Amino acid sequence: MTIDTGTNQHDGQRTALVVGATGIAGSALVEKLAGEGWPVLALSRRPGQERDGVRWLSADLTSADSLVEVLAPENPTHVFFTAWSRRDTEEENIRVNAGMLRDLLTALHGKEVAHVALMTGMKHYLGPFESYGSGDMADTPFHEEEPRLPSPNFYYAQEDELFAAAAEQGFTWSVHRAHTVLGYAVGNAMNMALTLATQATLCREAGEPFVFPGSAQQWNGLANVTDAGLLAEHMVWASTSSAGADEAYNIVNGDVFRWRWMWPRLAGYFGVEWEGFAEAPRPLEEAMSGREGQWSELAERHGLAETSLDRLASWWHTDGDLGIEIEVIVDMGKSRDAGFTGYRRTLDVFTSLFDRYRAENLIP
Ligand SMILES: NC(=O)c1ccc[n+]([C@@H]2O[C@H](COP(=O)([O-])OP(=O)(O)OC[C@H]3O[C@@H](n4cnc5c(N)ncnc54)[C@H](OP(=O)(O)O)[C@@H]3O)[C@@H](O)[C@H]2O)c1
Repeated sequence: MTIDTGTNQHDGQRTALVVGATGIAGSALVEKLAGEGWPVLALSRRPGQERDGVRWLSADLTSADSLVEVLAPENPTHVFFTAWSRRDTEEENIRVNAGMLRDLLTALHGKEVAHVALMTGMKHYLGPFESYGSGDMADTPFHEEEPRLPSPNFYYAQEDELFAAAAEQGFTWSVHRAHTVLGYAVGNAMNMALTLATQATLCREAGEPFVFPGSAQQWNGLANVTDAGLLAEHMVWASTSSAGADEAYNIVNGDVFRWRWMWPRLAGYFGVEWEGFAEAPRPLEEAMSGREGQWSELAERHGLAETSLDRLASWWHTDGDLGIEIEVIVDMGKSRDAGFTGYRRTLDVFTSLFDRYRAENLIP
């Protein structure tokens, strides 16, 4: 993969600002950037793990004053925006999430920012949660140049804030449209790998099968997803390569699979019996409700680090992704043409993440 300095005049004195640094994507970015020797400013409300080269900044993105105060002494050259706040309606998602990006970029006005990379996702093509995967959509695999859908969407609003600030402040930008992210995070809103690990553990301990919760389409059709480490590579690549500047890119692992192939392998990792799709979806929100006591009991028995089930499992999100009634396949050709050739094998991503959750004592 070719990495060049692109339009960045700050080579040699680059500083990264990762916004949403404790999240599933942000924490992978912090690891990648710090591992490459970048000085990293890591911003969230609560601090994450201490590590060399990383300085935690505590700010509330919904408070413009808090951002101005915290960022006043800082001079990031490369900004990676991976924060979001889940709201009840798309109207509220737009107001809050576009506002968080706008206020952050305003707080950085007058500084020497060279590039801002924004993480978004499949709602760009599928529509907001309120109409997710319904109505007219582009044909799959999704390509970056598809026109926007007519419905209001917080990703579009964030892109517009990014484009406006880039034009005004003179930085380059990139947008990274990820599919379901597989990564390492605890207490975040959308985490499929940890959700499935938690489901498999609860089922095994209760002597129940590990049941696929989703639709016939997802069980039988082709699927793809995004490793958080690969997403971090993609965001750093676009931020430091001239080919990556001022473009929106899809980012998925590069392999495709069927859940009916993947599911028995995940069950095999956990040593649990499994059941595939049968007649209708069997959502986790129903099947796993009321299990908090079972989790805290098994967490105590195994001496696990987290006894609160709702900090581990995001049933609603995995139900949404595995329950969708249409194929969601993403094209990676644009990134490859531009020089990004990273890829992952999804089964390996799942098992190495499960190994890590186990090593960190989050699952037995
Ligand atoms: N997860 C997925 O599978 C997935 C897939 C595709 C696209 N996406 C999109 O990617 C973006 C990021 O999602 P994610 O899942 O990576 O997020 P996440 O894991 O839930 O992390 C969110 C981060 O934002 C921080 N944050 C939230 N509210 C904040 C506030 N008011 N002030 C400061 N920091 C705040 C959180 O830390 P604190 O709570 O400590 O502040 C955390 O570090 C979203 O637009 C999402 O729709 C996600």
